[in-house]
Amino acid sequence: MNAALAAPIEPRVADASIPELVPIVSPAPVPSSIAYTYKRFPLTIVRGDGVTLFDDAGNAYLDCMSGIATNAFGYNDAGVNAAIAEALSTGLIHLSNLVTNEPGERLAHFLTSRTFADKVFFCNSGVEAVEGSFKFARRWARTYNAEGAKHEIVAVRGSFHGRLFASVAATDRAAYRLPFTPLVPGISIAERDLPSLATMLSAESTAALIIEPVQGEGGVRPMDHGFLRELRALTRERNILLILDEVQCGMGRTGCFLAHEPAGIKPDIVTLAKPLAGGLPIGAVLMTADVANALQPGEHGTTFGGGPLVTHVAHHVCERIADPALLMRIREDGAWFGAQLDGLKSAHPSVRAVRGVGFMWGVDVTEPASAVIERARDAGLLIISAGDHTLRILPPLTATRADLALAIGMLDTALRGVQAA
Ligand SMILES: Cc1ncc(COP(=O)(O)O)c(C=O)c1O
Repeated sequence: MNAALAAPIEPRVADASIPELVPIVSPAPVPSSIAYTYKRFPLTIVRGDGVTLFDDAGNAYLDCMSGIATNAFGYNDAGVNAAIAEALSTGLIHLSNLVTNEPGERLAHFLTSRTFADKVFFCNSGVEAVEGSFKFARRWARTYNAEGAKHEIVAVRGSFHGRLFASVAATDRAAYRLPFTPLVPGISIAERDLPSLATMLSAESTAALIIEPVQGEGGVRPMDHGFLRELRALTRERNILLILDEVQCGMGRTGCFLAHEPAGIKPDIVTLAKPLAGGLPIGAVLMTADVANALQPGEHGTTFGGGPLVTHVAHHVCERIADPALLMRIREDGAWFGAQLDGLKSAHPSVRAVRGVGFMWGVDVTEPASAVIERARDAGLLIISAGDHTLRILPPLTATRADLALAIGMLDTALRGVQAA
C-alpha cells in the first residue's frame, strides 16, 4: 500500500520545516446577470487558437486549464472544426433516442472495441454519467441479488463526482454537501486506504465502490496501481461493482486512453465526459454486459444524450486520442513537465508538494492557490485550483514541450511573488 494514499487529504500539521498556510480571502464577485455559482476570473475571453486564448483587451494567455480538462485539442482545432462541419452537412443536430443514429452507433462501437466495455449509455455531462452509473449499479444489484438488500454506494476520501443529489453525496467536500442536506441516503465516504475500505466493503448491503483513478478536484492525486488492483480484487471477491470515474482523468490525459489501463484491471463501469467531444457537451457510461443486461427500456433516459452532431465529433476526438504516438508523447512530455515542476519545488520554499501524471498536475502551495493563479494570469498563464492550496495544471493534449516550457517559466515568475506566511 502506497504510504501517500494513507496520508490525510489536507495535511495541516504544525511542522517547523513546512511553511504555514496563508488564509484564504475571497474576491468580490465579477458583476454579471449569471447566477453566482462560480468565482470567475476577472477575464473575458473572446477568441482561442491552439493553446492560446485572447481576452477582450487583446492580451494572449497560454491555456493550461483546457476548459477544466475539456478542450482536449485546444481551440480552433482544424480536425474538430471539420468534424462539426461534416456532422452539420447531414442536417442533423439532434434526433431522439427513439431512432437509431449512425454517429452514435459508430462512437459506441469505437468505445466498446477500444475498452473493457460491452455497452455504452450516452448523456450530456460528467455528473449525469455518474448519476447514471449509480442507477445502473443499483439496477444490477436488484437484478442479481435479493430485492433491495444490496444498494449502498461507497466513495472515498478526497473524491469529487459532481454536484447533483446522488453525486454530491459521493463527493467529499463539506462546502458542496452541507448547504443541501439531507443528501441522498445509501451513499457513504470511506477513508482512502485498504483497511478502511475492506471494512466498509464487507457490508452485505454494498452494491458499488466508486473511485477516480486520479482524483482531480480533490488535489490531483494519482491512485497507486497496486491499490487499484487490490480494490478490484476486493470488490470481485465480495460481488461489488467497481465504478471508475474517469470524467476528468480519462481520455488521454494521463497518457493512456483510459487512466486505469496501466493498472491492468477490468472495471464494471467507467464514467467519461469532459474531453470526449473536444468541448461539446457529452457524457458516457461504459459498462460490462452483466450491468447492461440488468437494464430495461424506460428505466433511464435523456433527451439530448448521444445526438448525431456531438457523437460524430466525439468519434473524431476518440480516434485521435487513441493514437499511440499522441499517448506516448503525453507520457514523455508529462514526465518531463513533472520533473520541471519538481525543479520549481526545489527553487521555491512556498511549494510544498508536486503530484501528477501525463498532462494532469497538482502543486501544493503555502499561499492561497488563488493568489498564485492571479499572478500566473498576469504573467500570461491560465491555471486553476484543486482545493484552497493546490494549483491544478491541465494543458491541452496538443501542447508541445515548448508550450510546457513556457508554462514553467510563467509559473516560476508567479511563484517568485509569494506572499509572506
Ligand atoms: C471526476 C469528476 N466526476 C464528475 C464530474 C462532473 O462533471 P460535469 O461538471 O461535466 O457534470 C467532474 C467535474 O469536474 C469530475 O472531475
